Amino acid sequence: MEIKETKHWTVDEIGEAAQKLKKGGLVAFPTETVYGLGANAMNSDAVSGVFDVKGRPHDNPLIVHVNSFEQVKDYVVALHPYAQKLADTYWPGPLTLICQTKTDLFAKEVSAGLPSVSFRMPDNEATLMLLKKAGVPAVGPSANTSGKPSPTTYEHVYHDLQGKIDGILDDGATKIGVESTVIDVSDPEQNPMILRPGAITKEQIQQDLGIEVSYDKHLLETSETPKSPGMKYKHYSPDTKVLMVKKQDWPAAVHWVKENNLCAGVLAGPRICDEVRANTAATFSYSDDSMLAATRGLYAGMRALDEGQLSLDVILVAVLPEEGLGLAYMNRLKKAAAQKYFEG
Ligand code: TXA
Ligand code: MG
Repeated sequence: MEIKETKHWTVDEIGEAAQKLKKGGLVAFPTETVYGLGANAMNSDAVSGVFDVKGRPHDNPLIVHVNSFEQVKDYVVALHPYAQKLADTYWPGPLTLICQTKTDLFAKEVSAGLPSVSFRMPDNEATLMLLKKAGVPAVGPSANTSGKPSPTTYEHVYHDLQGKIDGILDDGATKIGVESTVIDVSDPEQNPMILRPGAITKEQIQQDLGIEVSYDKHLLETSETPKSPGMKYKHYSPDTKVLMVKKQDWPAAVHWVKENNLCAGVLAGPRICDEVRANTAATFSYSDDSMLAATRGLYAGMRALDEGQLSLDVILVAVLPEEGLGLAYMNRLKKAAAQKYFEG
């Protein structure tokens, strides 16, 4: 693979980044969820490059990032009756719509053989400007090495992809920290179905739009051939072993660490971090005890505690209530921990 000089672009340098993107370069961009690895969605070489540098399996389709829903209408075959309403309500924002699409309008790698393409309008002004200036829709998988925690800062992207991509548009840390909700509206006859939980929740959509939305958590976590191919791969994991710890199990977990002389890292809210700090090797505290602080800090914390010089034996991560945004948090955490809980 050719070694590239990975540029650092500030938001004042969007024009340069847009030119690169348009001409087939690989340009990472910020969004409100995680950083994405952008490439011109019409350019087969560029899109192939995205799979290569991430080490992404080729059967895992990409999200196309657009700067309006009008743009999506040009590509869609059978528009779902609720698609427009969903976009009007949540775009720009962390909701990805899977639509029945004229897939041949895009590079063939985008849809990975499926009869649909997913679209999202990210809530980040710099990236919306980047898309506008480039004048092309851009694929944007999370800008990490496949299988690693998604990047929520410029530094995370640089760590994983330096030398492999043309540049990174830096707009600081992302606001939400976990990837968008993916909702399937490809069949106009069926109710929208959530395929990946995110910051826009099933309850919120049902309440705002007065429609039925399906979400089968068990199926998504256990099925061998899930509807959203990305969900079947081991994901988001640091190299260090991750164990999930339930609220009532922290005293037992700390006892286990001491008894076995383990070098343990803890990723949790400030209250738990304060309690365990004296007895663990490293703590990474979410900025406060809210659920949003937890999603924002989850990947960043796993990356920080995975740093080589810490040489931790295990990372203990707080289990949080699986409701609302907590569904997205737990969905990612369970994958990082390969479903393993600390058993007291
Ligand atoms: O928040 C996000 O969505 C971020 C930011 C950068 O926009 N992007 C992101 O992309 O998370 P990625 O590629 O890491 O995840 C896309 C997910 C995968 O699970 C993929 O399988 C699914 O969406 N997906 C994409 N297109 C699909 C399609 N046509 N049918 C079913 N699933 C699809
Ligand atoms: Mg990803």
